[in-house]
Amino acid sequence: MKDQKKMWSVFSLKHVLVVSLALNVGLIFRVLYEGEKNLSGFCLENKEAFMAEADAHVSKNTSLVTSTAATPTEVRDGVIDLGHGDPTMYERFWKRTGDKTTVVISGWQSISYFSDVGNICWFLEPEFANVVVRLHRLVGNAVTEDRHVVVGTGSSQLFLAVLYALSPPNASEPMDVVSAAPFYSSYPLMTDFLKSGLYKWAGDAHKYGEDRPYIELVTSPNNPDGLIRQAVVNRSEGILVHDLAYYWPQYAPISSPADQDIMLFTVSKTTGHAGSRIGWALVKDEDIAKKMTKFIELNTIGVSKDSQLRAAKILQAVADSYDNVGCNSEESETFFDYGYNVMKKRWKQLREAVNKSSLFSLPDFPLGTCTFSGRTFKSQPAFAWLKCEGEIEDCENFLQSHKVVSRGGKHFGDSTKYVRICTLSRDETFNLFIERLSTIKTRNSYTN
Ligand SMILES: Cc1ncc(COP(=O)(O)O)c(C=O)c1O
Repeated sequence: MKDQKKMWSVFSLKHVLVVSLALNVGLIFRVLYEGEKNLSGFCLENKEAFMAEADAHVSKNTSLVTSTAATPTEVRDGVIDLGHGDPTMYERFWKRTGDKTTVVISGWQSISYFSDVGNICWFLEPEFANVVVRLHRLVGNAVTEDRHVVVGTGSSQLFLAVLYALSPPNASEPMDVVSAAPFYSSYPLMTDFLKSGLYKWAGDAHKYGEDRPYIELVTSPNNPDGLIRQAVVNRSEGILVHDLAYYWPQYAPISSPADQDIMLFTVSKTTGHAGSRIGWALVKDEDIAKKMTKFIELNTIGVSKDSQLRAAKILQAVADSYDNVGCNSEESETFFDYGYNVMKKRWKQLREAVNKSSLFSLPDFPLGTCTFSGRTFKSQPAFAWLKCEGEIEDCENFLQSHKVVSRGGKHFGDSTKYVRICTLSRDETFNLFIERLSTIKTRNSYTN
C-alpha cells in the first residue's frame, strides 16, 4: 500500500512535470506565433493606417523594414511606390560629400535640454539659427531681418505650433483653417487629428464664405500641383501662414525674397534630410514666436539638439560650397545646381513620356528668371500633378492597375482624375517609373 502510494506520487509528479512542460512549450510557441502575427498583422496595419496619409516613407506595399540601405524601398514586387514625398533623390549628392558632412557627437555633448536660454526659442541651437539666416541671404528666398527663428521637429510640428499660436484661447468656436484646393493632403488630417477646440479644418479656401476670423495656409510652390500661389480669401479677419517648403532654386525660379509674417521651411525638402526631422519658422511677431515655442515646449520639451547640429552641418556645407565656387574644378557641382540639373532631366523625361500618349497631361508653368542662379526656367516641382484624360475617372486606380502607387486627387480636395506623383525618388525608381509610364498606351490594365 505504501509502495503503491509512493508509485502514484512519483507517477503523478512525473505526469505533472510532463504536462507542465508540454503546456510551457505550447505557451512559448503561442507567444512566438501571436507575436509574429502581431508584428506582421495588427501592428503593421495600424502603422500603415497612420502612415498612409503622411508624406513619409513607410509604404502601403512594403514591410516595416525601411532601412537606409541602397536598395530602393520604393519598388517591391514590381510595384513602384511614388505616393509619398520621400526625398531619396538627394542621397547620391550627399554620398559624394563624404566626411565633410559627417557629424560626430561625443557622449557628453548635447545633454542639456537648453540651447540658448536668452532666446525666445530657448531650445534653438545658435549654430543652426546662424546658418538658416546665412542660407536665406545666400539664396535670397526669404527675408530674415526682424524675424524670430523657431525650430521644430519637422515643419509638421511648426504647423501645429502655428495653429495653436494663432487661435484665440477663449473663443466660443474653433478658428477656421483653410487652404486653396488642391492643398497638401496632410493639412486637414493634422488640423483635425486631435479634435481641438481651438481650430478646425474648414476646407477649400476658394469656397470659404464665413464672416469670421480664419487662418489661410498658402503653400508656394504648391504641393501637389507646383504652382506659385498667393492668398485667395483676402479678408481682413484672416491670418496667413506661408508654407515655403519648396521655395528653393532646384524646384522653382526664386523671384524675390519672401517677406511674409509667418513662413515655414524644412530641411526635408531643402536638402532632402527628411529623417532628421528639422524645420524652421521665420516669424515677425514676438508673441506668436513665444506661443509657438510654448507649444513645442509642452509638446516635446524642445527639438533634438543632435538633429539640429546635423542639419546645421548640412546647411553649412551647402552654403560653404558657394564660397568656393570655381576654386576646385573637381567639386564644381554645388548643391542647388545638382538639384536643379536632376529635376530638369526628370521633368524632361516625364513630359516626353506623358506626351507619348493621349491618356495623361501635366500642368504647364510660366518661365521665370531666378535671382539666385540667373537661369530662366519653368518650375520643376517635387511632385507631378498628373491628370488622366478621357474616360479614366479614377487615375489612382488606373495607375495602380499598372503597378504604380500614387496619391489620388481626393486627398488634396480635388478630382479623382488627378494623382500626385513624387519626383524625388532615387534614380533607379524614377527611371523605372518613366519606363512604365511610357508603356501605358491604352486604358487596359497591366497584364504582366
Ligand atoms: C508643403 C509641405 N509642408 C510641410 C511638409 C512637412 O515637412 P516636414 O518633413 O518638415 O515635417 C511637407 C512634406 O511633404 C510639405 O509638402
